[in-house]
Amino acid sequence: MKERVFSGMRPTGKLHLGHLIGALNNWVALQDAYECFYGIVDWHALTTEYAEVSQLRENVVEITLDWLAAGLDPGKSTLLIQSRVPNHAELHVLLSMITPIPWLERVPSYKEQQVQLSNKDLSTYGFLGYPLLQAADILVYRAKTVPVGEDQVAHVELTREVARRFNHLYGETFPEPRALLTPTPRLLGLDGRKMSKSYNNCIYLSDSPEEIRGKTRMMITDPARTHRSIPGNPDVCNVYDYHKVFTPAEKAREIDEGCRTAALGCVDCKGILAGNLIQLTQPIYEKRLTWEARRNEVMDILESGTSHAREVTEGVMRDVRHAMNVRYDD
Ligand code: TRP
Ligand code: SF4
Repeated sequence: MKERVFSGMRPTGKLHLGHLIGALNNWVALQDAYECFYGIVDWHALTTEYAEVSQLRENVVEITLDWLAAGLDPGKSTLLIQSRVPNHAELHVLLSMITPIPWLERVPSYKEQQVQLSNKDLSTYGFLGYPLLQAADILVYRAKTVPVGEDQVAHVELTREVARRFNHLYGETFPEPRALLTPTPRLLGLDGRKMSKSYNNCIYLSDSPEEIRGKTRMMITDPARTHRSIPGNPDVCNVYDYHKVFTPAEKAREIDEGCRTAALGCVDCKGILAGNLIQLTQPIYEKRLTWEARRNEVMDILESGTSHAREVTEGVMRDVRHAMNVRYDD
């Protein structure tokens, strides 16, 4: 029996390099050794995007194309849409009965996001419940392993606490899941700010090699290096931060040296980076083009994953209803 994995992504737009190295590559790598469920968590998207829902369906299709292009394989993993598996919602409402509000209020992302997204009114019930819905996503599969980045650790910890409380109240029902941390080298956007589609500073998995060259050329460098003949400082250069992630260590050391001695200019330095980025993304870009041509199959792929997810979660929910004595079928 393979151990079960659940992870989710919010359909808020096309995926970028940060998603690839922070999550997707790891998800792909887990497909053989684990029984993987990967959810497009559209309800989670609504917790912050409730006022702008026009793109939701399109975003679900786009994220699926990105997933397939990056190597998620519906023959190996179950790809599902959260809102099409109502058991996620049923478990969420049952867990809400036993979850003290302060547990949710003290999750760091709750207050942080309200400050960061101050243009949105996040004083909603749904937003407070974000991590509990995530707990339901995980527990409704009895997943033991949750591959996520550092920023999600508090949510997995809450999931463990809720599972423990449930088990204590109603008897052993859920395993306590653990986060499988994806090492996430912090990748900033092209302009050195956080990589985000609202800043228009991302390299997308769907970008062509020419687009990647163009974007790389526009990256900001060491601001003190105003002229080719002035030596640079890679420690303060966003381009070099990318080299640390995408360029083999030995070559990166060479670049460091070349920059500091002014033997290497920024144009060439960026050219090397662009080459490495393209080498990484070109297979994904090409695979995406072939999937785009089969765009009409995407919903069928998701529907078949979702239907498997409904069966699996129904088994768990039977036990949950039984444990809480919310059952009327006998
Ligand atoms: N909160 C996660 C994120 O923003 C997405 C998510 C929702 C998730 N449900 C999940 C991740 C369950 C892991 C498991 O990245
Ligand atoms: Fe940055 Fe490369 Fe220019 Fe040095 S040579 S400042 S590392 S872009």
